[in-house]
Amino acid sequence: MNMAMEKINLESIKKRAENEIRKSKNLNELNDVYKLYLGKKGELSLVLRSLKKMLKVRKVRIGKKANKLKDLLEEKIAKKTIKIKEKARIDGRKGDLFDITIPGKKPVVGHLHPLTQTKGRVEEIFQSMGFSVVEGPEAETEWYNFDALNIPKNHPTRDLWDTFYLKDGNLLRTHTSPVQIRYMEKNQPPLRIIIPGRVFRHEATDAGHEINFYHIEGLMVDKKISVGSFKAIIKEFFKRFFEKDIKIRLRPCYFPFTEPSFEIDCSCPICSGKGCSVCGVNGWVELMGAGMVHPNVFKNSGLNPKNWQGFAFGIGMDRLAMMKYKINDVRLFYGGDLRFLNQF
Ligand code: FA5
Repeated sequence: MNMAMEKINLESIKKRAENEIRKSKNLNELNDVYKLYLGKKGELSLVLRSLKKMLKVRKVRIGKKANKLKDLLEEKIAKKTIKIKEKARIDGRKGDLFDITIPGKKPVVGHLHPLTQTKGRVEEIFQSMGFSVVEGPEAETEWYNFDALNIPKNHPTRDLWDTFYLKDGNLLRTHTSPVQIRYMEKNQPPLRIIIPGRVFRHEATDAGHEINFYHIEGLMVDKKISVGSFKAIIKEFFKRFFEKDIKIRLRPCYFPFTEPSFEIDCSCPICSGKGCSVCGVNGWVELMGAGMVHPNVFKNSGLNPKNWQGFAFGIGMDRLAMMKYKINDVRLFYGGDLRFLNQF
């Protein structure tokens, strides 16, 4: 007997199909249920296909019920599909949040720039010798950067410290020496200070010269301060900074704000004075300028030069760091190249 003749139990198909849709745990299982009832050879599809062979009355009665059941099962399968997908999405998210077996991401930990490390160590050493750390503005007036330091307008030494001028008539300081004046205006000696800070110059760059670099100014003023006092302090500083005995030599030089003035060379810490590519063949490296505070600088700060004596110095902090870490190009400090920076 073919299907057109046999008894068709749509109620049984409905019950079984609904039960299997409910029990389906994933899309594969749900797809199997679909095939079983609504696929090409599915149970309900066969019923629908047999309609055309049925007598009219039966065709209308069964056809109506079978089509209704088809719509119902399709709707249930569509709803279950959404439910299964939503559950998979939530389970997946839960996995992201709570799966403690997934290896963690290591945070990138930075460290201090070699110049900041150098500054910290310099401050530490001078503070242990009774010096205070003082700061001043990077944008300075001509008065503090030049005039007050005994460098009048049109004096040729201004060329040595050519800089960048700002629209408001001020300039980017070429050295930290202006802070000497600013400090002495407000503080009576005796005094011992160092002034670390950023300085700027209008010049061509090369391995030893940047347009932006760092100075550490030093100033000690009291009743009886001599070149001998300076030599003792600076020798001690170099010894502690380089962690070995370093020979120094004072070469006569000219700075408008000190008299007498000298430049200080230290025996090259890289080759211990034997001569190398950094210091050249002579074994000495120039690191700083210094001298006894000029009477005009005292006067311009409001102090009587007859009452006070002092020494001042200005160390190139970049050069100091280059010597300590054996770096042969000052521009590396400012390149931001992590392959360089990660070595410190
Ligand atoms: C001065 O700037 C004086 N103000 C120092 C001073 C202070 C002398 C107090 C006396 C009393 P000078 O221009 O030489 O001096 O610079 C000091 C140091 O800065 C130099 O010895 C050198 O180590 C460093 N330096 C100078 N120019 C540059 C540059 N373009 N790039 C990197 N370092 C530099």
